[in-house]
Amino acid sequence: MEVKKDENLHTSVLLQELIDGVAVKEDRKNVIVDCTLGLAGHASEIIKMMNPGDIFVGFDADERNLKLAKQKLKQTQTKTQSSPEIILIHSNFLYLKRELQNHGIDSITGIYYDLWVSSVHFDEADRWFSFRMEGPLDMRFDTNTGKTAADILNYSEETELFRILREYGEEPHSRKIAARVISSRKEKKFQTTTDLKDFLDTEINSHIKTKMRVFQALRIAVNGELENLETSLRDAIDLIESWGRVCAISFHSLEDRIVKQTLKRETRDCICRDMICSCWHTRSLKVLTKKPLLPTEEEQNKNPRSRSAKMRIAEKI
Ligand SMILES: C[S@@+](CC[C@H](N)C(=O)[O-])C[C@H]1O[C@@H](n2cnc3c(N)ncnc32)[C@H](O)[C@@H]1O
Repeated sequence: MEVKKDENLHTSVLLQELIDGVAVKEDRKNVIVDCTLGLAGHASEIIKMMNPGDIFVGFDADERNLKLAKQKLKQTQTKTQSSPEIILIHSNFLYLKRELQNHGIDSITGIYYDLWVSSVHFDEADRWFSFRMEGPLDMRFDTNTGKTAADILNYSEETELFRILREYGEEPHSRKIAARVISSRKEKKFQTTTDLKDFLDTEINSHIKTKMRVFQALRIAVNGELENLETSLRDAIDLIESWGRVCAISFHSLEDRIVKQTLKRETRDCICRDMICSCWHTRSLKVLTKKPLLPTEEEQNKNPRSRSAKMRIAEKI
């Protein structure tokens, strides 16, 4: 299948692989959840596979992307004769269980995550995620809540800054950068992406990779990305019916590790490691991808942003 461009805003990664992974069925009621709707590139193709009576739920923490997705899905619905019920939710996927319960849904047959940011976040200056353009140093997917990247830089303790840069950016110069941020912000607070870029250029003499790692670390910290992913995945596994699938596309090793470990944990009968088991944990999943699925060379050439993508799929037993 030809990989689709969404009005040149975002190209969906591993599209056919995700459709196959989610495995919409003809002979049962499908309740499919897209935790990271983005511009609905994956969603619109999944919806085409679904039947009347099925339910599709899409989450996005970013209100603007959710609006774009709504428009796109309206077009899909008018083109598709038999469409499922579509529910779109402006929420972090951390609140998956609560939000689904609010809509009367307590079990699902498939769920997927396409992590990282959409291309819109990088390509539009006011989306604030990149040092390539000037914009407010914000980085929140949901601009209604939480600390911004500027807040973290301007008000965190040095030890906390060091932890963020080391854990989320795996940045070798974390200690030095954290110390310099503390002295630099006494003179001038960080406000824009350019303030941070200039600081890294002048104070750290940084390589582009350092900039990428620092921006990544801040984005992960601002959005609580790793913690939210783990909690949401566990809830997702709880909600999935037998034979239902969970698929996750990740874009860096920290995310992939969480996906891999969270899925693996649920393939074990005991997770306490005591000589005599005291956890009574029973396995509930079968991992279908021994190794993660990667984009083909063709996809990587067409869409260089797909290069770091990895997809893992598991099935509830
Ligand atoms: C890579 S894009 C998804 C692209 C989409 N699959 C497509 O094909 O158009 C990721 C989206 O997830 C959203 N997002 C990231 N973290 C989220 C979270 N914790 N909860 C809800 N949405 C999130 C972002 O705002 C972004 O729109």
